[in-house]
Amino acid sequence: MTKILAIETSCDETACAVVEDGCRILSNVVSSQINVHTLYGGVVPEVASRIHVENISAVVQEAVKRSGCTMDDIDAIAFTQGPGLIGSLHVGVQAAKTLAWEFDKPLVPINHMTGHIYANRFAIDHDLRFPLLALVISGGHTQLVWMKDDWSFEIIGTTVDDAIGEAYDKVSRVLGTGYPGGPIIDRMAKLGKPHYKLPTPKVDGKYDFSFSGLKTAVSQMIAREEKAGNEIIKEDVAYAFQETALNSMAGKTIQAVKDLHPVMVITAGGVAANSRLRVLLAEEMKQFPEIELSQPPIKFCTDNASMIGASGYVAYKHGLFGTLDVSADPSLPMPGEI
Ligand code: KG4
Ligand code: ZN
Repeated sequence: MTKILAIETSCDETACAVVEDGCRILSNVVSSQINVHTLYGGVVPEVASRIHVENISAVVQEAVKRSGCTMDDIDAIAFTQGPGLIGSLHVGVQAAKTLAWEFDKPLVPINHMTGHIYANRFAIDHDLRFPLLALVISGGHTQLVWMKDDWSFEIIGTTVDDAIGEAYDKVSRVLGTGYPGGPIIDRMAKLGKPHYKLPTPKVDGKYDFSFSGLKTAVSQMIAREEKAGNEIIKEDVAYAFQETALNSMAGKTIQAVKDLHPVMVITAGGVAANSRLRVLLAEEMKQFPEIELSQPPIKFCTDNASMIGASGYVAYKHGLFGTLDVSADPSLPMPGEI
């Protein structure tokens, strides 16, 4: 049995977990800074790194304690090396290196996005199956990733401008409904009706995405309605934005499924928590009963350290160790990406 202690501090969650064999969570501690950043309407990088420094020791100690393990039982220390906010990443990297040095454990640097992908291991009772298509959707990424094998990542589609999570956050800001926008728009859209019409995003690449035009169209539509003296029905705006964005994203995903015939389709990242997307994809995937669809439990969609433990286990099995010289990389590419 392999036990990985995993640390995640790429954005505004200070998180540590102990995960056994990449699939059993012995402990999972997440200290969110959301209440602080909500005051500013978004993550303030300097504030985030300072809070990470204040919390990291207690979070690691709590994760070890709750796991019922001692540091002797831990086989390796996995940590998020990037991508993310440099100041935030530094804190987790430093904590991981200190633990590795003090307790003489191997270090496993992990790309945050591979963590989101392998979080699916907590949704299914078997290893991921390949070839696999992953829709990776977060505050910083919108990607279709083709995995022909374990730990093999080919980005076949990406956003040409904003990430989907970023678009959710911006639309919520325009509506004045708060941060983070994703869960707020998700809840509001449930009460909305098909009243406003927005243009479907257009982009050349077969599997590429675009959300910046849609975000601008929302702002322009609100300005037009206000000028005409019409009351803005925020729930209906949320509904129109969400349906347009998600249908475009699901459409590209299904196109890739048709073209490439994966045995598994998975979603990953904060936006994968979206309730409408979960239903939409499940509906669309009914036309491919032979293909397994996995959507991670909601608490494993947003940032956490268990996912770094799941991904860390696969990297550990592949012998992908780091040295004490390893440093944070805010724009770390996916493994294998040039
Ligand atoms: O993966 P994540 O926690 O952090 C990054 O790696 O970026 O994703 C955060 C993003 C935010 O943009 C947030 O608004 C979005 O995920 N999000 C959602 C939902 N929950 C979080 N977007 C749509 N619907 C949700 N329910
Ligand atoms: Zn993330």
